[in-house]
Amino acid sequence: MKMKPDSEAFRLLLDEYKQRVDERLDFWLPAANLIPESLHQAMRYSVLGSGKRVRPVLVYATATALGIPLQRVDGIATAVEIIHAYSLIHDDLPAMDDDDLRRGRPTCHKKFDEATAILAGDALQALAFYILSHDPDMTPQPAQRLQMIERLALYSGSRGMAGGQAIDLASVGKQINLAELETMHIHKTGALIRTCIQMAALSTEQIDPVQMDALDRYAKKIGLSFQVQDDILDVICDTDTLGKPQGSDALLDKPTFPSIIGLQASRDKARELHQQALQAIEGFGSEADILRTISQWFVERSH
Ligand code: IPE
Ligand code: IPE
Ligand code: MG
Ligand code: MG
Ligand code: MG
Repeated sequence: MKMKPDSEAFRLLLDEYKQRVDERLDFWLPAANLIPESLHQAMRYSVLGSGKRVRPVLVYATATALGIPLQRVDGIATAVEIIHAYSLIHDDLPAMDDDDLRRGRPTCHKKFDEATAILAGDALQALAFYILSHDPDMTPQPAQRLQMIERLALYSGSRGMAGGQAIDLASVGKQINLAELETMHIHKTGALIRTCIQMAALSTEQIDPVQMDALDRYAKKIGLSFQVQDDILDVICDTDTLGKPQGSDALLDKPTFPSIIGLQASRDKARELHQQALQAIEGFGSEADILRTISQWFVERSH
């Protein structure tokens, strides 16, 4: 049954997924008292903060839609959240967005120092691939595991997330058009979200190409809508609710959806992407209702 994003049932499900991945994150992250302590403390500090765990939620929801046992995708959920945490540490560095607050606490480079933050990001990236290579509960088929590793490497690298971040930095203070803005967002945020769904789908015994294509089309729409809403919240939300500095984009003269097409058109765009995401998975039955609710949550969320 389709849940509303503000329903108790959806909140409970998110809590369940969050708790599940948090346990795995705690398990895979090196102990804080292990040498080099400050590096391990920085890694744990950044990963175990109060994030929404959107990407693991998508992994678990995709597994549910495809009837895959959650245990099989725990490693994927953990790896993508770790890649995301690394991307946030680096995104906040003085050379990038230069932000002091993340998830309601000082950013990694503020709590520790810049060198430790850079290394924590580096080490987290490596840890994600270590988990994907080692987790014994994932698919028993080495070829599928390899395909997952290939997906994550491709979409988090220069042709995905890191490439998007490079476009973001090169666009500061520039007039870019809507197509260029979409390309930037599709890379910096959309690519990792797409990877979550593709990797979860690769955990099935044999993925139906029609279902895979539908899920990928859904993933592309919500990957973009998520960043459109992130841009909107940077304008309309407050720092306490966001847990990161409100107005950071405007301060840095970043091209964003609101700065290029305005706030209302940005909201309309997010809604349109949500409708397109729903259309992409209309061939699925009620087993994909969680994915439908997640798409709505992405464009209605307040932080
Ligand atoms: C923030 O991501 C950065 C973007 C890619 C927009 P989230 O909004 O998922 O951040 P957390 O994990 O909840 O802190
Ligand atoms: C960040 O985009 C995207 C990645 C970290 C890959 P933003 O710079 O908009 O994210 P926030 O707003 O700082 O969370
Ligand atoms: Mg940024
Ligand atoms: Mg930022
Ligand atoms: Mg932002």
